[in-house]
Amino acid sequence: MILIKTPSQIDGIRASSRLATATLKYTASFIKPGISTELLNQKAHDYIISHKAQPAPLNYNGFPKSICTSINNVVCHGIPSPKEILKEGDIVNIDITTILNGYFGDTSATYPVGKINQEAQLLIERTKVSLDLAIKSVKAGKYLNECVGKTIEDYVTRFGYSVVKDLGGHGVGINFHEDPFVFHFNTLRNHILLKPGMIFTIEPMINASKNWQVYMDVDDAWTIRTKDSSLSAQFEHTVLVTQNGCEVLTK
Ligand code: MF3
Ligand code: CO
Ligand code: CO
Repeated sequence: MILIKTPSQIDGIRASSRLATATLKYTASFIKPGISTELLNQKAHDYIISHKAQPAPLNYNGFPKSICTSINNVVCHGIPSPKEILKEGDIVNIDITTILNGYFGDTSATYPVGKINQEAQLLIERTKVSLDLAIKSVKAGKYLNECVGKTIEDYVTRFGYSVVKDLGGHGVGINFHEDPFVFHFNTLRNHILLKPGMIFTIEPMINASKNWQVYMDVDDAWTIRTKDSSLSAQFEHTVLVTQNGCEVLTK
């Protein structure tokens, strides 16, 4: 069941989303070669707590940390660790989800560590463009698959990239993961009419090869990696469907 949020719920989700974005920017400011992903986790955790909110990932289905940090061929759900040190040339996605006054906001971005090669830079830029194009397309009265999945798939596949199929966006706000599941490729499973007051994430995971396949780490049961070890990038926003288009809540 896809919830239509009330004006007061929207205000609460907007506030949480803005905190998530502020946390993401603050946390990303610490990125440089030589620091650990555990440091990023600590900075984000402390920032969220000091704003009277909670990090949603912590203890979510047993997730052990407050944010996800996903480096290079890690697609998503990377677990911060003091043993994991960022090095020049890496790309790292930081994914922040906050709970403020009971409301959830969810956003992520992929950043360069020091100087990166052109292949990595282009992957980051094009992944972000694919999200921006989808956001520009979302509007009440249109269909979710046309606005999101088709837009993203059409844009990125022209570069020889692929869209990860096993993970997607999601309704968000009252809970961490709500209906609908948002596919980032065109599928009739997302033939859903958009209505004002729907809130969901768009969070394309794009692999820098034609192989979209991924696998889960057997030891930690969280980390998702590309099957062919190619780079993967991701950007995520929480959006509110409106009559005229959509409002990016994670601004
Ligand atoms: N923030 C992720 C998303 O965009 C979900 C992370 S779940 C966790 O949906 F448990 F790994 F944190
Ligand atoms: Co999300
Ligand atoms: Co997220």
